Amino acid sequence: MTLESPIPLASFDQSVQPVNTARSLPPDAYTSDAFYEFERKAIFGREWFCVGREDQIPDPGDYFTVTMAGEPLVVVRGTDAAISVLSAVCQHRGALVAKGSGSCGSYLRCPYHWWTYDLDGKLVTAPQMHKAEDFDKALHGLPGLRVDRWNGFVFACLHADTEPISSRLGEFGDYVENYQMGDLRTTEPVTTVGHPFNWKLMVENGIEPYHASYLHHDMFEFPKERNYTTTAFESDAAIVSVVNHGFVDASLNPTYRPYFPVIETLSDEDRRRFGFAAVPPNLMLGWQSDLIFWFLILPTSPHTVDLQWGYLLPQSSHDLQMFEHLLELSHAGVEDYNSQDLPIAEDMQVGLSSQFAPQGRYSHEEEVLARFNRWLLARYRPVE
Ligand code: FES
Ligand SMILES: [Fe+2]
Repeated sequence: MTLESPIPLASFDQSVQPVNTARSLPPDAYTSDAFYEFERKAIFGREWFCVGREDQIPDPGDYFTVTMAGEPLVVVRGTDAAISVLSAVCQHRGALVAKGSGSCGSYLRCPYHWWTYDLDGKLVTAPQMHKAEDFDKALHGLPGLRVDRWNGFVFACLHADTEPISSRLGEFGDYVENYQMGDLRTTEPVTTVGHPFNWKLMVENGIEPYHASYLHHDMFEFPKERNYTTTAFESDAAIVSVVNHGFVDASLNPTYRPYFPVIETLSDEDRRRFGFAAVPPNLMLGWQSDLIFWFLILPTSPHTVDLQWGYLLPQSSHDLQMFEHLLELSHAGVEDYNSQDLPIAEDMQVGLSSQFAPQGRYSHEEEVLARFNRWLLARYRPVE
């Protein structure tokens, strides 16, 4: 079946030009119900998306749940230590077999009528079903998604043919290799719900360096020489903005200094820059000398998202006695930026619903946005 964009693709022609002539996406792409339904299939139904970190579920039976663009999922560590991403929708009558996070032992049991699935999603028991004619348990398992892993992050895909994300992220992996992200451990992610803006605004805000010197002018002395570099890797699988600030170990908090010990494997060059990256559609990363913050963008409607935040640090930092206190301070530093960024995204959602909403021109410092637009357009185009 061919998917067709309810916004004519010609309206995006200018969005994918080189940045000096490009314009932002058509406003309807941020506000239209029909376009969001299209994106649910064309983007979230076809592309790999991030569901969280492997180290959230270290032991067999550990699980967490996540809802991606309306699909309730459970991410579970199997008895063989492999990770499965399963639909959390019970195949009896649609209750959810898991919510929140924790350990489920060896089985996922639906609370409604106790249909019970193993950690691969196979239906193993279903009470009082012996009179149901031709009932074959093998046909009623929890649907499983494809799973891929990269640097400790778990990705899932609803589509059978999409090329594995890890093979596309090789170059980006080399670029951030000194952080040894796969060995870092995450803090327990915190979810904030119901932010009133379209999911794409959060991707854009997370990688666009243009606003930093203005919206955040009172927060940090961003380099006057505008020393930003942007990089994209193979097929725009990761879109990166780097702020070369020149100070060693500058950090996003009021002291400008890292609260945790510097990650030992960083080079001098790494320690003189912040990096911000999107792994579209929904994984965002930011790195400084002592930690990496990551968050997931979880769309819930055309005009709402949930966000899930965590921090990656070496085990030696997790082991510090002051860990919780230092984490609170680090988080407060990041929150200062969020307290400026998130209200702007809310305002933009209002602005983009106006009859005067622009399909606006970009500064050269917004080159990453033209790249993101190209990533999107490659997926909006009809595929059989
Ligand atoms: S809906 Fe799950 S067992 Fe009935
Ligand atoms: Fe910002």
